[in-house]
Amino acid sequence: MGSTFLHESYDEYPRIEAAFQDALDESLNPRGPELLYELVGELRLPPQANVLDLGCGEGQHSIQLAKRFRFAVRGIDPVQRHIELAHQRLDEAAKDGPEVGKLVRFELGAAESIPMKDASLDLIWCREVLYHIGSLDNAFAECRRVLRTGGYLLIYHNFATDRLEPGEAEWQWATLGVVPANTNPQHVEAAFVGAGFQIDQCIELASEFGEYAEEQTGQVARHLIHTARLLRAPERYIAMFGQTAYNIKLGDCLWHVYRMIGKLSSRVYLLKSP
Ligand SMILES: C[S@@+](CC[C@H](N)C(=O)[O-])C[C@H]1O[C@@H](n2cnc3c(N)ncnc32)[C@H](O)[C@@H]1O
Repeated sequence: MGSTFLHESYDEYPRIEAAFQDALDESLNPRGPELLYELVGELRLPPQANVLDLGCGEGQHSIQLAKRFRFAVRGIDPVQRHIELAHQRLDEAAKDGPEVGKLVRFELGAAESIPMKDASLDLIWCREVLYHIGSLDNAFAECRRVLRTGGYLLIYHNFATDRLEPGEAEWQWATLGVVPANTNPQHVEAAFVGAGFQIDQCIELASEFGEYAEEQTGQVARHLIHTARLLRAPERYIAMFGQTAYNIKLGDCLWHVYRMIGKLSSRVYLLKSP
């Protein structure tokens, strides 16, 4: 047994190691976030189509959807500061293209009670929001209610995999306000199928967006070195920014690292309201 290991590791493996390294240095051509806009483009919705950016955060995607497709976009989010920042971002965007300023509106709102009329929307864009939703059943019922027949719900979400250890998951979800069940694909699928949605496309991206970010900008390596510093000198950063900020920063950095090493996996669903 031992001698087999010695032979394989120190005799056979080194003979191919350099070639293996070269193979790994070649990109696997990961898809990047542009994919989400391509999927929207393929729907061939007309200008002025009514679109909801559900959990719009600071509004960058709402503005992009208006800029690229001339959709009439409403962005809603339950955090007041996000709505204020989204308005600032929209004011900036409107300086370059006044039409965008007229196409986009932001307001407070949440997935469980969407402030819109029945059957009034062509598309709901929901990017990295499901983590925080207490009742997916209510949220998807609301999405069904506000979408017209034949309307689409595009979801981009990260799920946990079997590689994520229970202790890692427990800390990560508690720190970042993630509803644990919502990281389970079966739970999420059961909720949207239960609400009556049909799965038009399901694209397993795994680490692709992370690889793309790393290859384009080195962003993930930056998260990795930040993780190392946070773990080695917690007291330094806690003294500067406090325990809560430290935990959130560590959770955020680990998130990117975990996705690269297969503990989290990204997926896109394009759902249709029949
Ligand atoms: C990770 S951020 C993603 C923001 C944005 N969609 C993006 O992709 O940049 C999650 C967002 O979900 C929002 N959120 C939290 N709970 C929500 C709820 N119940 N309904 C809608 N949005 C919610 C948060 O305020 C936050 O802006």
